[in-house]
Amino acid sequence: MQCPHLPEGFDFTDPDLLQSRVPHPEFAEMRQTAPVWWCAQPRGISGFDDEGYWAVTRHADVKYVSTHPELFSSHTNTAVIRFNESIKREAIDAQRLIMLNMDPPEHTRVRQIVQRGFTPRSIRSLEEALRNRAHSIVAKALENASPEGGFDFVNNIAVELPLQAIAELIGVPQEDRAKIFDWSNKMAAYDDPEYAITAEAGMEAAAEIVAYSMGIAAARKECPAKDIVSQLVAAEGEGNLSSDEFGFFVILLAVAGNETTRNAISHGMHAFLTHPEQWELYKRDRPETTAEEIVRWATPVVSFQRTATQDLELGGQKIKAGDRVGLFYSSANNDPEVFDAPEQFDITRDPNPHLGFGGGGPHFCLGKSLAVLEINLIFNAIADALPNLKPAGDPRRLRSAWLNGIKELQVTTG
Ligand code: HEM
Repeated sequence: MQCPHLPEGFDFTDPDLLQSRVPHPEFAEMRQTAPVWWCAQPRGISGFDDEGYWAVTRHADVKYVSTHPELFSSHTNTAVIRFNESIKREAIDAQRLIMLNMDPPEHTRVRQIVQRGFTPRSIRSLEEALRNRAHSIVAKALENASPEGGFDFVNNIAVELPLQAIAELIGVPQEDRAKIFDWSNKMAAYDDPEYAITAEAGMEAAAEIVAYSMGIAAARKECPAKDIVSQLVAAEGEGNLSSDEFGFFVILLAVAGNETTRNAISHGMHAFLTHPEQWELYKRDRPETTAEEIVRWATPVVSFQRTATQDLELGGQKIKAGDRVGLFYSSANNDPEVFDAPEQFDITRDPNPHLGFGGGGPHFCLGKSLAVLEINLIFNAIADALPNLKPAGDPRRLRSAWLNGIKELQVTTG
């Protein structure tokens, strides 16, 4: 194995680095010279009591790790590759109650139950309501624009539909949506000082969501309705979620379905604004392949992690039981072994075997079809009502160790 030319101490999970850019040139270097590489960190900086992780950067290796849960655990240290130095181990362990951070057989049991809420039929049943939402979100953004036609795309358009979709899915009544949205936002942004959200405030918001959702679950147990929540919780016993399991599931939805889709939409818009020929093509043909290319291009989750369950070898490296292994989806999605001209934003790309929704295996994104639906609905609404949108400044990026986030994107209706 060659030695990669990276500056001493370079860390792919450094939130300051990700606030400035996604390190694409460094990923390219790693894929070529050291596709599985030990990335050393000062002890404890990630919140884990160790001195680094293995960075996995090739598409094939990310897939291999994702599809071998018996060798690579999501439970031992959770799927989150970096918390912050001050987090307590108990707080990390508390996150192991959500499905993202479970291993088989617990994971299999919970996933089989919640899957019922995500059948093609369930997702189709949300389509009409979400289409109307998408149109009203875009109309309202236009109303709120400055006299010159300027507005922030992230807060006026990208934020709203993912929140509404989750609220719709779990049947949150209109009057309660604002508080659910507030709690969800507080849980996601703990790494960015601009939002000034303490870890405690994030935990409090999570506890409020769990309590609120347990209330919904209890009500549906008492009085089942024809909705998804009733399907998940109504009958007692085998094959259903208990009220607290449902509470943790809602937390997962609020984290997994919210910022991810929001950032796919913001990056998608930015990609269209900087590739006007693709926007013209979209407006004319509305290719079905668009949403998948937006997710590949955006790769909202830069990385998740696993922990080796035994000593093993990967990409020629000897990995020890207990070592953390980072799956860099952003790198896999630009691997030239798999994608022709990966640096091009091409909404007709087909096939497009990107790993933006995960590398396959048991944890593959449960909300993929909902995310694709949301992306299609919002860009159709934008193309209909705001066909001449123009950029009005560079995006401002989120500070995060593992999300490729945009927190502000000024645009003008031209
Ligand atoms: C563009 C938007 C989205 C992206 C990029 C995304 C990405 C991902 C990724 C990378 C994983 C982890 C895969 C793994 O560990 O192997 C995941 C899991 C998950 N996602 Fe998504 N996601 C998106 C939207 C959504 C939405 C809209 C929902 C639901 C409302 C959702 C719900 C979930 C859940 C529940 C899991 C955990 C599945 C499990 O552990 O079995 N996601 N997603």
